[in-house]
Amino acid sequence: MNLKIAVLPGDGIGPEISAQGVDVTTAICEKFGHKVEYRYALCGADAIDKVGDPFPEDTYQTCLWADAVLFSAVGDPKFDNNPAAKVRPEQGLLAMRKKLGLFANIRPVETFDCLVHMSPLRRELVEGADFVCIRELTGGMYFGEKLEGDDRAYDTNAYTRTEVERILRVAYSYARRRRKHLTVVDKANVLASSRLWRKVAQEIAPEYPDVETDYMYVDNAAMRMIQDPRFFDVMVTENTFGDILTDEGSVITGSMGLLPSASTGEKTPVFEPIHGSWPQAQGKNIANPLAQILSAAMLFEYFDLMEEGALIRKAVNASLDANVRTPEIQVPGGAVYGTREVGEWIVDYIRKA
Ligand code: IPM
Ligand code: MN
Repeated sequence: MNLKIAVLPGDGIGPEISAQGVDVTTAICEKFGHKVEYRYALCGADAIDKVGDPFPEDTYQTCLWADAVLFSAVGDPKFDNNPAAKVRPEQGLLAMRKKLGLFANIRPVETFDCLVHMSPLRRELVEGADFVCIRELTGGMYFGEKLEGDDRAYDTNAYTRTEVERILRVAYSYARRRRKHLTVVDKANVLASSRLWRKVAQEIAPEYPDVETDYMYVDNAAMRMIQDPRFFDVMVTENTFGDILTDEGSVITGSMGLLPSASTGEKTPVFEPIHGSWPQAQGKNIANPLAQILSAAMLFEYFDLMEEGALIRKAVNASLDANVRTPEIQVPGGAVYGTREVGEWIVDYIRKA
C-alpha cells in the first residue's frame, strides 16, 4: 500500500521519540513492501514560537493530505503558570481534534508482565489487566459554551444524541472484537448530559445482544479501576471523565511510557503516545520511545495491516525481554539505553525478522 504520513513532533521530548516512531514505520514499510511518504508539520509551543499559532493552517492542510498523523507531544512549562497567555500549546491539540473531527479517542490500558512490579497496585490485582477506554473527544466541557469572567466562570457539558450515539457505536464495535463487555461510564444520578448518554445507550444496547452492557457512575468506575482493573474490557465515556480515567488507567499499569493511543473520526486519524512532552528530559536521549513506536503499530492496524502491527509489538516485547530499556524501566544493574538506542535496536530486530 501507499502510505502518506504527516509527522507532528511538537515539543519537549516529542522530536526525539518522533524520530524513533518514523524509523520503525519506515523499517516496517520496507519489510512489507509498502511505499511511505512523510511530511513534517509544526504544532504546539514550537509552532507558537515559529508562526504564532499552535495548529497552523499549513499543518492542518498537511494532515488532510495524509492518510494518518503520527503525533508526538505538545506542551511547554513557560505557558503552564501563565494564566494570561493568549495562546497555549494545548489549544493546538484541541484545534486538531476539532478540525479533523477526531471524536473517538481509543486508549488501551495494557499491562506488560515484566513491568507489573512497577505498578502502584499489588501484582495480583493488576496482572493481566487489559481494557480499552473509548473517550469522546470533541464534545462536552472542552468545547461547550464558556464564560470566563472575573467573578463568575463556567464550562458547559453539552452533548447531542448524534454525538453520543456515534461514540457508543465505536465502543460496541471494539467490544465485539474483544471480550464482549461494555461499561458505559457516566454520572446519570446528577448530570442531565449523563442521563442523555444513558438513555441513548439503553436504546441501542439491544442492537448488540452479543455484548454485555453495564452502566457505572464515574466515581465508582474510578474506584473499581483500582480495586479490580480486570473487571473492564471496553469502557466508554464523555470527554472530561475520559481525560481523568485514562490518566488513572495508564498509571496503574506501571508502564505509562509504553501506552499508545489513536484518535479517529471524520478525517485523518491521529496516533500518539498517552504521555506528554516531559520538557525536563528534552534533548537528554532518556525518554522512552515505546509508546510512540506502539502508536505506529496502532497506525498499521487501523489500516488492517495486522501483521505489520504484530511485528512492531513483537519487537517491542523482545526489546523489553532483552532489557534494552530506557532508564525509568531498566532493571537494577542492567545497562541503560537511550531513546535512540532503543529505537535502533527495534529497527534492527524488524529488519532481521
Ligand atoms: C490528553 C491531554 C489533553 C486533554 C490536554 C493536553 C489538552 O491531557 O490528551 O489527555 O485534556 O485532552
Ligand atoms: Mn489528559
